[in-house]
Amino acid sequence: MNVTHLECAACRLEHEARRLLNLCRECKKPLLVRYDLERARATLTKESLVGRRADLWRYREVLPVEDDANIVSLGEGWTPLLQAKRLGNKLGTRRLYIKDESQNPTQSFKARGMSAAVSMAKELGAEKLAVPSAGNAAGALAAYAARAALECFIFMPRDTPRANVVECEQTGAHVTLMDGLITDCGAEVARRKEAEGWFDVSTLKEPYRVEGKKTLGYELAEQFNWELPDVIIYPTGGGTGLIGMWKAFEEMEQMGWIGPERPRMVTVQASGCAPIVRAFAEGKRFADEFPNAETVASGLRVPKAIGDFLILDAVRASGGTAISVTDEELLAATGCLRAVRKLLADNAVKTNERIVLFNTGAGVKYLEAFSSDLSETSH
Ligand SMILES: Cc1ncc(COP(=O)(O)O)c(C=O)c1O
Ligand SMILES: [Zn+2]
Repeated sequence: MNVTHLECAACRLEHEARRLLNLCRECKKPLLVRYDLERARATLTKESLVGRRADLWRYREVLPVEDDANIVSLGEGWTPLLQAKRLGNKLGTRRLYIKDESQNPTQSFKARGMSAAVSMAKELGAEKLAVPSAGNAAGALAAYAARAALECFIFMPRDTPRANVVECEQTGAHVTLMDGLITDCGAEVARRKEAEGWFDVSTLKEPYRVEGKKTLGYELAEQFNWELPDVIIYPTGGGTGLIGMWKAFEEMEQMGWIGPERPRMVTVQASGCAPIVRAFAEGKRFADEFPNAETVASGLRVPKAIGDFLILDAVRASGGTAISVTDEELLAATGCLRAVRKLLADNAVKTNERIVLFNTGAGVKYLEAFSSDLSETSH
């Protein structure tokens, strides 16, 4: 198709595309997929999208799979962009939207990344996939691996929401629960993968999950009729969704679909695990590991992200910001909603601006969090 090569996001070293690769062979930073966008735009036009399949594979020319037969799909993407009028009124803002990613297969936006990653793993000949996960990525991988008839090995913290554990077990994954955080699970995958013959699909440690997630950016543009919103509020763990959207905007500009203007990217983290917020405030390009990470937002409990510099670069270049919210605030509303309130109160977002909140996953997976003492005291 239109893939030309993989490029290191840090040192720019080129890598061959048609091989199973993880990180840059020189500097061990993430690899990004590069396309011949001149060629892509010959058939991928705004008009051509009308009537295409109602999932993320509608953007076929800017997705990495070579042979259509290798696409592993469960109907991911092309989720609704809902205008939240009543909520907007309540907050005093007129143009508030929710991109509802809970409607994806396995109920989170992680389906996007895993559809692309598992498709490519299948195409490039991997047989066993392994992933450390805070929960939703695991559920998504388990489902896509089952769809592709690939074996998968999942490592999650022992206190991961039960729904995430059960969905993996029920779709036939090998599940290991570990004492520790996602970083400890990642270290276990790294330690064992060579001997076990696993392909590591940790986010941003393989080049394709971000390709699936970038379709969030294409969809927003298409759903807003090729005008991007003013502000995007995104709950950040590993940051792949934010990094992916930023990449999509760059590609769309190169294809002549949008101009140079960008939404202000606002990253939201839990105050008990806010490495990006801290690095942003301190003016650092790389984030230190956040000590004693703890939050009920299990998907955001990522004390160290390999793509930290890509998140921080995008947030800064966009004129955005990084905000943390407490677990009490999170349970009383949701992280993103709380962030909008703060931004409006600080006049960092104007009431007539177009704001998109990301509902990255379904609340029903977090029954434990909502029945804890913490939520009782917050009401
Ligand atoms: C529901 C939910 N939202 C957000 C995130 C963070 O996503 P990202 O890694 O793209 O920052 C996760 C990650 O596990 C998640 O499960
Ligand atoms: Zn490099």
